[in-house]
Amino acid sequence: MSATTLGSLDLNLLLGRFDAQKGTILGASRTERRLSDLDGIFLDESAYRAARALGDALIYSVEAVEPGAGDGDLHYGLGVIQPGRIGQEYFMTKGHLHRWRQAAELYIGLSGSGVMLLEDEATGESRMLPLGPGCAVYVPGHTGHRTANTGTTPLSYIGVYPARAGHDYGVYASRNFRCAVVDDAGTPKMIKR
Ligand code: PA5
Ligand code: MN
Repeated sequence: MSATTLGSLDLNLLLGRFDAQKGTILGASRTERRLSDLDGIFLDESAYRAARALGDALIYSVEAVEPGAGDGDLHYGLGVIQPGRIGQEYFMTKGHLHRWRQAAELYIGLSGSGVMLLEDEATGESRMLPLGPGCAVYVPGHTGHRTANTGTTPLSYIGVYPARAGHDYGVYASRNFRCAVVDDAGTPKMIKR
């Protein structure tokens, strides 16, 4: 499919007007993930149940802009992850691979402090990289990625990816990432699950 042209795009698709604190982009579609959407992904199941007993807190939101679906087109999303922990593990995203596996993605930190957990699908090699203002994290193709808020304020960031990328949640829904990011005396630490 050919890429989207200048003349075919509305102003809200050409110019993203976003609020990094509110996690909003004018005209974008919004997805919210609550604690109940993250059942089974945290290490400490009793801490998860205790948190659920208190309610179904909003953990993160993503607003996505999808100007077109052509081969050369890009999509992007503004994510905001709330601060908090389940046991020692920080609030985090579900995490995914791209359906079109070779699609890379660039994450740009806007505010707050967090980390990205990257996992090579073929080798299982895992890396933890900082994400916050001044950080751009390159997620190569074939790499599972999950983002965690390791600070005390909301973490906001933008991720830019090929329109063809898609989101594949299936792999980690069945086996989770190999590593987790936990608070170790005030410092984020990557440990084996
Ligand atoms: O496309 C991306 O990688 C991001 O915009 C994510 O969708 C966002 O960080 C939320 O994570 P997930 O899609 O794993 O729930
Ligand atoms: Mn992605």
